[in-house]
Amino acid sequence: MRTVRTVAELRRRLAPERRGGQRIGLVPTMGHFHEGHLSLMRRAREDTDVVVVSLFVNPTQFRDGEDLASYPRDERRDASLADREGVDLLFVPSAEQVYPAGFDTVVRVGGLTDVLCGDAGRRGHRHFDGVATVVTKLLNIVGPDVAYFGQKDAQQALVIRRLARDLDIPVGVEVCPTVRDPDGLALSSRNSYLTGGERERALALSRALRAADEAVEKGELDARPVLAAARAELDRAGVEPEYLELRSAEDLSPVERVNGSTLLAVAAHVGRARLIDNTVLVSHAGATAPTDHPRGGPG
Ligand code: PAJ
Repeated sequence: MRTVRTVAELRRRLAPERRGGQRIGLVPTMGHFHEGHLSLMRRAREDTDVVVVSLFVNPTQFRDGEDLASYPRDERRDASLADREGVDLLFVPSAEQVYPAGFDTVVRVGGLTDVLCGDAGRRGHRHFDGVATVVTKLLNIVGPDVAYFGQKDAQQALVIRRLARDLDIPVGVEVCPTVRDPDGLALSSRNSYLTGGERERALALSRALRAADEAVEKGELDARPVLAAARAELDRAGVEPEYLELRSAEDLSPVERVNGSTLLAVAAHVGRARLIDNTVLVSHAGATAPTDHPRGGPG
């Protein structure tokens, strides 16, 4: 694996591969790799000929006072993990490479970004403008045939699908299942902020999703009791959600009843970690959508 730090060098290295008809896969990341990131790399390795992983802690998607300065960074460790997954190129640009002097362009995906982790939840900071702009740039820099994202960030994945469609970016967007610890906690770079006791409380998020899953399995389809089942798990652990909402898994519009493709999404602060998680609820009234949520584990 080779680490590349400039746009020019990355393009130079990819040009002959592209001319030779090789399929290029891109996994955008902010580093501090865990099994979630590695699962995307593995998937890219299986599907494509040349695997590019980008590692860039994108300042514009962090809110003022959020954890930009303390976001975990360890390029050496990340490089060795990516190498083991058979990644070909690790793209680690400086902020100047991504945002040259005078940069003042924004990609904004409307609608989808007004809810959940969008503006409303983040007190005026357009988090997804930062995500959409940097991902557009990465897609233009790398020119992948396929780009890989995690369902863990369900809203982000929808935003990226939408921007690729709306801006006619010729890339396939693949969304891969959420990877969890055996106890249910969704893997996240921010889990490293949790102390032992906090980690225990953080389990309330995945428990809440499972409680909702179970309510739906028993035939409950109305939003209110399904949300109440989830909320009870958060309350039990003393976790106050920033949001706990049922929305269409296609376009994030609000839903009153669980149907074939209903997203239950939760965000909460536990200690200094802001955690998010989600599940796609499957009603047995004719629905076949898969869920990535484990059933029957501890808790
Ligand atoms: P980051 O948080 O590093 O995540 C990189 C990718 O890994 C995202 O697609 C995310 O959804 C996926 N991922 C994270 N945790 C996961 C888990 N437990 N299971 C499966 N996939 C998981 O998301 C970002 O970076 C940034 O916003 C980025 C897209 C790179 C733009 O800056």
